[in-house]
Amino acid sequence: MCGIVGYLGPNPAFPILIEGLKRLEYRGYDSAGIATLEDGGALRVEKKQGKVVELTNHIGEHHPQGTVGIGHTRWATHGPPSDVNSHPHCGAQGRIALIHNGIIENYEALKELLTHRGHKLVSDTDTEVLAHLIEEVQLRSGLDLPDAVRVALKEVVGAYAIVVLDREHPDRLIAARKSSPLVIGVGEGREFYVGSDATPIVAHTKNVIYLDDEEVATMHRNGDLKIRTIGDVAVTPEIHAIELEMASLEKGGYDHFMLKEIYEQPRSIRDSIRGRVQLQSGDVHMSGIAEYWDVWNSAQRILILGCGTSWHAGLVAEYLFESLARIPVEVEYASEFRYRKPIVRDSDVVIAISQSGETADTLAAIRLAKDQGAHVFGVCNVVGSSIARETHAGAYTHAGPEIGVASTKAFTAQVAVLTAMAIHLGRKLGHLDDRTHMRLLTELDNIPDLVKRVLDKAEATEAIAREFATADNALYLGRGYQFPVALEGALKLKEISYIHAEGYPAAEMKHGPIALIDENMPVIFIATHDEVYDKVVSNIQEVKARGGRILAIVTEGDTHARKLADHVLEVPRCHEALAPLLTVLPMQLLSYHIALLRGCNVDQPRNLAKSVTGEGRNPVNLGWFSTPCVWDVENVVSLHLANGAFLAPRKP
Ligand code: G6P
Repeated sequence: MCGIVGYLGPNPAFPILIEGLKRLEYRGYDSAGIATLEDGGALRVEKKQGKVVELTNHIGEHHPQGTVGIGHTRWATHGPPSDVNSHPHCGAQGRIALIHNGIIENYEALKELLTHRGHKLVSDTDTEVLAHLIEEVQLRSGLDLPDAVRVALKEVVGAYAIVVLDREHPDRLIAARKSSPLVIGVGEGREFYVGSDATPIVAHTKNVIYLDDEEVATMHRNGDLKIRTIGDVAVTPEIHAIELEMASLEKGGYDHFMLKEIYEQPRSIRDSIRGRVQLQSGDVHMSGIAEYWDVWNSAQRILILGCGTSWHAGLVAEYLFESLARIPVEVEYASEFRYRKPIVRDSDVVIAISQSGETADTLAAIRLAKDQGAHVFGVCNVVGSSIARETHAGAYTHAGPEIGVASTKAFTAQVAVLTAMAIHLGRKLGHLDDRTHMRLLTELDNIPDLVKRVLDKAEATEAIAREFATADNALYLGRGYQFPVALEGALKLKEISYIHAEGYPAAEMKHGPIALIDENMPVIFIATHDEVYDKVVSNIQEVKARGGRILAIVTEGDTHARKLADHVLEVPRCHEALAPLLTVLPMQLLSYHIALLRGCNVDQPRNLAKSVTGEGRNPVNLGWFSTPCVWDVENVVSLHLANGAFLAPRKP
């Protein structure tokens, strides 16, 4: 969740570090800090609770000097956000400064040991313990810093990506990792960049080295780079070219990443079905399914696992798979599944859904399901991510980097891929007749155009947002395919506007939420033309009778729901199985405008992080660049040949 940047080279470090920190803010951002070695050998550390801008305001005009430095954005784990808990942290003698991403699980024991030896720690963090430990080893053993780092890290249990600056060696930067990604950028003319992902590096160089677990890299100003394992085995560095383009990390003229990502959806959905949906032959190409057809053919149940928005995509998939492919489906929060002794059979197929491919709970759930014999299929966005590597097979969603913390285009790309899968399975398993099959495929192929139409006609959303922006609560109601969309709409609103919002199946409203309805309560109904339309209209009537303020998301040409609602937003008519891809759009925009009107930070909502990698692992965004380093060559090839499928290397 935290972000790391480092620089060693001929240029001033400060501007590079600050620019890198700004790019990394999406990962975690309750505080930021930098350390540089100034001319004359002074170690200058500046850190501040809050955004990077608080740090730059705090530093003011008196910029840190020097051509080597490290920077960090923190998302608090050990100890609350505060200046003192911010990174970098220094050792007892102030000789080294260190930044860290990850969790040191045995930090209490290490802290006790260090305190016993007279160390005084000032922060609540596990990171400061690590800084003291390394300096203690270095001073007591007389080892050179890279060796001291190796020795110290042998004592550490947990996950870390660290970069260490040594006051006595302004010509060196040390980096190490375990279960938390770290990328070294090799610039022109003897300079090195370090990043927790490529975002702070890509503006400077496309040549990178991915550190592997338990490797310690020593970068030298003369251009030398040495990598040794913690066990002291030399490793030959391999340089890879990254494919990440700067444009995909920038706002492209939009005010916020979230807005850009909402408007990217015609493209991202197109990319997610490109090559898969083949209208001419009437086929869906899914190598990840084809390769394991026997497993899918005999599946007795599909278990879908995910968290947050990905879990909502899973709920949409439950309706899709049961209705189109007639396979029983259960959808579980990965965080619950992993701890409740679930019953998994080898006739189960598990679908794990994750934008980042790194969510700790989803990964743990996958491992558990695999241990119990299930076949696991991943649906994720980040190429080469842990989920892509640990599942048996899967499909990439190809939504491109999603920077806004509130997920938008990743959701629709997930739903589009899952829809294609359900249609494919429905056909192969004999549950869809030719006509329905072709209608669904054709409509799915056409959906990006309809998405564009919804977004092009969205100007009314802003005015509605103005009316709802002062609400304290909101209710989102839908039935059938639209129930999960109601949940997603409510999640979008609470995530970024901090308005308490709940999603409910519309019929369940009368078992509780109806008690909340009065003239102050905005109620957002999804009332598109589908099998349950009339029933939803009855639910709208019930809310109207109690004075609720109603926004109805309706099908173009609707007349009934429109009469009852205070506001309507229209989406084009389509098969009900595809409608979630359209109805979610006005909700994304509504949340965006409400959050803006309330003065909230849309892209970086408080307390949230893009990728929740607690419980041992930390985020990897390595997939933004496809690289043989994190993905063996065979898989990279299959990635391109097989329309975005991924297949785990088969064990001999
Ligand atoms: C965090 C993000 C959500 C996301 C969830 C699951 O909570 O803020 O937007 O839906 O994690 O993440 P994943 O990467 O597994 O989809």
